[in-house]
Amino acid sequence: MRTFARAGVVVLLGLGLGLASSSSSQAGAKPSISKEAYGSVGGQAVDRYTLSNGKFRVRILTYGGILQTVETPDRHGRLANVTLGFGTLGGYVTSKNPAYFGALIGRYGNRIAKGKFTLGGQTYQLAINNDPNSLHGGNAGFDKRVWTATPVAGKNTVALRLSYVSPNGEEGYPGTLRTTVTYTITKDRGIRIDYHATTDKATVVNLTNHAYWNLGGEGTGTIDDHKLQLRASRYTPVDSTLIPTGKLAAVAGTPMDFRKATAIGARNRSSFQQIVYGRGYDHNWVLDRHGKGLEVAARVSDAASGRTLTISTTEPGIQFYGGNFLDGTLYGTSGRAYRQGDGLALETQHFPDSPNHANFPSTVLRPGQVLRSTTVYQFGTR
Ligand code: GLA
Repeated sequence: MRTFARAGVVVLLGLGLGLASSSSSQAGAKPSISKEAYGSVGGQAVDRYTLSNGKFRVRILTYGGILQTVETPDRHGRLANVTLGFGTLGGYVTSKNPAYFGALIGRYGNRIAKGKFTLGGQTYQLAINNDPNSLHGGNAGFDKRVWTATPVAGKNTVALRLSYVSPNGEEGYPGTLRTTVTYTITKDRGIRIDYHATTDKATVVNLTNHAYWNLGGEGTGTIDDHKLQLRASRYTPVDSTLIPTGKLAAVAGTPMDFRKATAIGARNRSSFQQIVYGRGYDHNWVLDRHGKGLEVAARVSDAASGRTLTISTTEPGIQFYGGNFLDGTLYGTSGRAYRQGDGLALETQHFPDSPNHANFPSTVLRPGQVLRSTTVYQFGTR
């Protein structure tokens, strides 16, 4: 591959993509990918990649595999960045990104009760970073690692493959876990994420991405008016520490029922016990699946901008988190403070605390097995 530097930006050639000459600054007509140096963390260099395909552009950091920006048109063709994040690497590093904006989450997305699980007769203790539980992989999960990046050419797509090898015992998890996550920007304003992982010792894994969405544009206010539809007739109720009780409860007749598109703000201040525990929505929905392939899990729409987002996945569950813990102390990409409900995360996943619930789909990965999981975020307008 040939590279050349221009105005601090390294443009990658040789992808057979018919690279637009100004690929780094314009969402051109043809798929393109460019790379720029983006600082360093703990002595490790970080790069930022810009992937464009038509009127759609995303930026991805090798730090945390973070989806930093996603620019997509509204019904009048006007671009806005619809994902929450920071405008600098320092934003992510110095704040330790407590909100996990845009980050890849591993080894285990969401909570493990008291950070403890037993596998093969051995009990493992993880860091308690969300008292009294372990959350999102512990103190230094995949969101705080620098990933190795490789651009990948497709016919009408452009992709970035990120790899990370997590050593045996890292954050208390057994086995060397080799993870590859590929972000593909499709020709019709879609982001496809393919997860792939193998281990050399039995372990537990639950990978996801923690992007927050605001279809009006990040920093423009709350998502109370966004309508959400979840293809789920059950959810996993939680205790006061947000650990599942183990039951699969029906959504019917409760504020958890999103089978019909409903405005998020209509019920997120309800006194329903589950909503009180979560300070709003922060739960795992059990998807009504028909098979093992990619199936629609969620649809989000914003009437004001006309933007829509459809999420399809191969996973059995989805965490709908309404940005309840955003408290106005973080200033986002456009410089505005993020307050409660200014974005929603929809994290496709296996269920929280699965290692401690035999009735949940298993998150155990053994040597010789391959974890494969796919989620597609499809943007549109209406
Ligand atoms: C997940 C959790 C939330 C919160 C966010 C990050 O969605 O379920 O409780 O921890 O991550 O702030």
